[in-house]
Amino acid sequence: MITKIWQSTEIPAAAKALQQGKLVAFPTETVYGLGADAFNENAVSKVYAAKGRPSDNPLIVHVATPEQVQQYAVVDQRAQKLMTAFWPGPLTIILPVKPNVLSPVVTGGMTTVASRMPDNQATLNLITETGSPLVGPSANTSGKPSPTTAQHVYHDLHGKIAGILDDGSTRIGVESTVIDLSVAQPVILRPGKITAEQIATVIDTVVDTSEQHVAADEAPKAPGMKYRHYAPDKAVYIVDYQDWTAAVIWAQGQLEPVGLMMPDQLIEIHQLAGMDFVWSLGDNGDSAAAKLFAGLRHFDDQKDIQTILVASMPDTPENAAYNNRLGKAAGGHHFTVEEFS
Ligand code: TXA
Ligand code: MG
Repeated sequence: MITKIWQSTEIPAAAKALQQGKLVAFPTETVYGLGADAFNENAVSKVYAAKGRPSDNPLIVHVATPEQVQQYAVVDQRAQKLMTAFWPGPLTIILPVKPNVLSPVVTGGMTTVASRMPDNQATLNLITETGSPLVGPSANTSGKPSPTTAQHVYHDLHGKIAGILDDGSTRIGVESTVIDLSVAQPVILRPGKITAEQIATVIDTVVDTSEQHVAADEAPKAPGMKYRHYAPDKAVYIVDYQDWTAAVIWAQGQLEPVGLMMPDQLIEIHQLAGMDFVWSLGDNGDSAAAKLFAGLRHFDDQKDIQTILVASMPDTPENAAYNNRLGKAAGGHHFTVEEFS
């Protein structure tokens, strides 16, 4: 199969492929998604095969309007308020599923379903033109960092999907916040750009934050959280601010180059500007999130690099998504002066 790259002027061609049960990757404000007609069970099954994704890991249904969710899920008042406040935008809402509308292949056999309305006009047009909501896991090979450009999607999935709707680099760069509203007390299952604090203000309820819901010995509520995620093939270490001097000295003492992913301020302090093993994370937490996955992929593709050191961001609610994804890529491993000297 030859994978086509479509521009936003070619939405009819992309929509036609989706109507025929083929797979088309689409841009969102977070990461690229791997689209299939959510009402076509055969098409949805192909998504799992193309990604190499375990079949018990349910998919997010992407809609063009909040009303579309009512076709297949039970929308309560809290959900309505969150949709009004944050859609289109990076918030995925889990609700009870209506019986006999969606295939269990979409929901992983669960009694709930995840939905979101992405903030990308080309993709909203694509969903409307297709005439069905689209399932959309991140359009990467399962276990790899999520794709933030059409080229990342092509790298992982060319030959396996019909095409990619190209809209350049995604703006936010980390996946949406996932909130479970199918339970009495809302729970954040995955941190994202929309924080628990912002959500709590809108629905006037305390929101439980994620980490304790994915403890190793219990069934995680978001099945995807139990798999190794976002991980490149190289060894990745988190470097906290105070350890960068030791980390740069260690890196420069190695025989093989070490990939360094740092904010601009640290690149300047250590006089590393322009060096080809340095990846800028920009000058704040938002830019770092936007550039994280691209940097991991950049170094993953360089054969002589075996180790990547990546800056953590200050521990604030706004940086929770960045630090969460970096933690997963690094398997929780930190650069420490004791271990590396
Ligand atoms: O930003 C995003 O959310 C991107 C873009 C493409 O929209 N999509 C994305 O999808 O990250 P995916 O499939 O890579 O991650 C969806 C997460 C998984 O951890 C999955 O287990 C969880 O949401 N999930 C989906 N349906 C669920 C459900 N009914 N109950 C609990 N967790 C669910
Ligand atoms: Mg994913």
